[in-house]
Amino acid sequence: MTPLLWVLRDALGLTGTKFGCGMGLCGACTVHLDGIAVRSCVTPVGSVGSKAVTTIEGFSKDMSHPLLRAWLDEQVPQCGYCQSGQIMQAASLLAANPHPTQNDIDTAMSGNICRCGTYQRIRRAIARAAAS
Ligand code: FES
Ligand code: FES
Repeated sequence: MTPLLWVLRDALGLTGTKFGCGMGLCGACTVHLDGIAVRSCVTPVGSVGSKAVTTIEGFSKDMSHPLLRAWLDEQVPQCGYCQSGQIMQAASLLAANPHPTQNDIDTAMSGNICRCGTYQRIRRAIARAAAS
């Protein structure tokens, strides 16, 4: 059972999506299937079917998405390792819920770990994007 993450990184060279835990516990590997955030490390590639896969490389290539502008304005990243997963998770939240409460943001982002502790800036950036 080949995980989607292996295909993205090893076969397609899309290395913006990261390997963290490999067990669906950290969020570093988050991509979208038909716009919904999934953990690609525990998503068998055979289960993808005709769903559209979007990785950080294909998400707002021109950087015009409010979330990316807010990420820059808030200077969110530190080492950067978790950030593609954080952004893909946040984008999925805003697509489903354009005006999330702080609690909505906390709930949606609770499974995305950042070892650098950028959580406060992540939450500020999501709120900023939602307000723009
Ligand atoms: S690498 Fe997939 S959730 Fe951690
Ligand atoms: S920015 Fe370093 S792990 Fe999140």
